[in-house]
Amino acid sequence: MSRLRIFVDNDPGEVLIATSDRDDMARHLRGIGVRFEQWRASAPLAPGASPEDVMAAYRADIDRLVAENGFRTVDVVSIAPDNPNKEAMRAKFLDEHYHEEDEVRFFVAGAGLFTLHVEDKVYEITCVQGDLIGVPDRTKHWFDMGPEPHFIAIRFFTQPDGWVGHFTGTDIAQHFPRFDPREAA
Ligand SMILES: [Fe+2]
Repeated sequence: MSRLRIFVDNDPGEVLIATSDRDDMARHLRGIGVRFEQWRASAPLAPGASPEDVMAAYRADIDRLVAENGFRTVDVVSIAPDNPNKEAMRAKFLDEHYHEEDEVRFFVAGAGLFTLHVEDKVYEITCVQGDLIGVPDRTKHWFDMGPEPHFIAIRFFTQPDGWVGHFTGTDIAQHFPRFDPREAA
């Protein structure tokens, strides 16, 4: 299930807050400018559904978000444990970084772990099927899909070539928990 845990950034051993109540999660995250919502498909999606079918099932929410934020492109990304590039794909965003545009993801299926570093706190967010997360531009964060990645996500972009990770060079991400798929089950 979805879960938010909050830590002090120099103490991964002590959890200040832990909640799986999605309203509670949204409230804490709103406080740091992070959007957290649940969306429902308007029609059942079969395994292997095409990107067009995926987008059609969430059209009303996609259109609302695009209208509110002016996103220019929306796509669907999918990764399964048999992907030959899974290790490289996982490694890409495991260290602390930020982007010049918002990182907005809707989990159509599967799960992943976003961890945000805001001032002196660390916000660890397990995202599962039905969760939308919007991480504001320049917010430091990392993302773990786990060693056996499995998710389908809708991504929203403002700039066609804006998807660049600026790495901070810290090792903070290595001190906090990595994605544990059992937590998302
Ligand atoms: Fe990122």
